[in-house]
Amino acid sequence: MTTTETAPGALAAVVRTPGHSLPGPLYAGEEAYRTDLEAVFGRSWLFVATEPEIAEPGDFITVDIGRRSVILIRDDDMSVRAFHNVCRHRGSRLLDACSGSTGNIVCPYHQWTYDTEGHLLHAESSGPDLDRAALSLRPVHVRPVAGLIFICLAAEPSADFDDYAATVSPYLAPHRLAQAKVATQIDIIEDGNWKLVMENNRECTHCGGHPELIKSLFPVYGYQPEDISPRLRPAFERYSAAHREFTATCDELGMLWRANEQLDTRQTGFRIEREPLDMAGESFTADGRRACRKLLADFPTARLGRLSMHVQPNAWFHALADHAVTFSVLPIAPDKSLLRTTWLVHKDAVEGRDYELDSLTHVWRLTNDQDRTFVARAHRGVSDPAYVPGPYLAPEYQVDAFCTWYADRLAEYRAAAGV
Ligand code: FES
Ligand SMILES: [Fe+2]
Repeated sequence: MTTTETAPGALAAVVRTPGHSLPGPLYAGEEAYRTDLEAVFGRSWLFVATEPEIAEPGDFITVDIGRRSVILIRDDDMSVRAFHNVCRHRGSRLLDACSGSTGNIVCPYHQWTYDTEGHLLHAESSGPDLDRAALSLRPVHVRPVAGLIFICLAAEPSADFDDYAATVSPYLAPHRLAQAKVATQIDIIEDGNWKLVMENNRECTHCGGHPELIKSLFPVYGYQPEDISPRLRPAFERYSAAHREFTATCDELGMLWRANEQLDTRQTGFRIEREPLDMAGESFTADGRRACRKLLADFPTARLGRLSMHVQPNAWFHALADHAVTFSVLPIAPDKSLLRTTWLVHKDAVEGRDYELDSLTHVWRLTNDQDRTFVARAHRGVSDPAYVPGPYLAPEYQVDAFCTWYADRLAEYRAAAGV
């Protein structure tokens, strides 16, 4: 394990310099990891799944967040429910599988049985005095947003999630994510702290390391014209021309494209923007053409680039005309993180006829793997006693926004906890 330790309780004295990467103990220390699980993952709205993963009544997935486990299940009325994966009898873990389908939730220990709404239906040998109504599964706050499922483990979640949902839903709606099907889902374990995984996503100054991705993605996102180097000038000029045509098309079709630049310090920090893609402009492929013949989005043309969204603390998304790809990051250890990538296509698209899984996933499988190497390299570096925080450059403003958001959450948590 590659970690950086502080004396117990000393984390409160670790201060971030604005505009700079975080101090080493905040990336790689055990205390920071435990604090993050409470201050960030215990309080924020987290992206954990897509609705197509639990399409039918009884379909469930389980999600582990630190020592907590959460069941997400589709109930008989087709609503999405979330419960702590803890039996109300003597606390046994209920569901072990990562995903599956069940009529009722039956505890493997003494067979207490709950319905998909969490009600206790059956407890063997319980007398008439057992107050079943008081022994339902403990709910977790859950909100589907245009097919994306978010949960919040806090007793009282932040209300600004309503504003987030209202803002992004019109952007996402034409992509019909709730009606999609999962083409595939791939989990990888990154050898780095979850914050380094997120930081790496929030900038494209390393995109030269993604030769497959930058065939279709203009490697200039986050850049202002004055920051463009001679190396990036041709891509920037192509991007500028494509952007003019793209926004005119969007305006003609009445589609939202303007950036919501609210990747800010509110609890639900987010950013959403529709951007053109290079070449054919349709999808993340070698020639920019669609990877699935049957379009997922309700679009008259596939040449509508990518709708990209960042949500703090743990997610990013790309919704295209032909498919969508979602990314969620969950901490496993100070130096281990789960990156879950899910590819969604039209529910009637047929593998082998409308798409090939290998070509659909090619770019982001390779890109994720390349990023895994960058993140592991960064984690080793920030764990070195010689590491001192360095400055973020102008095209890294979204990385700075992430770290500022994170520092604010730590400050809020400490103020509330009196530490
Ligand atoms: S702990 Fe679940 S039935 Fe006893
Ligand atoms: Fe990357």
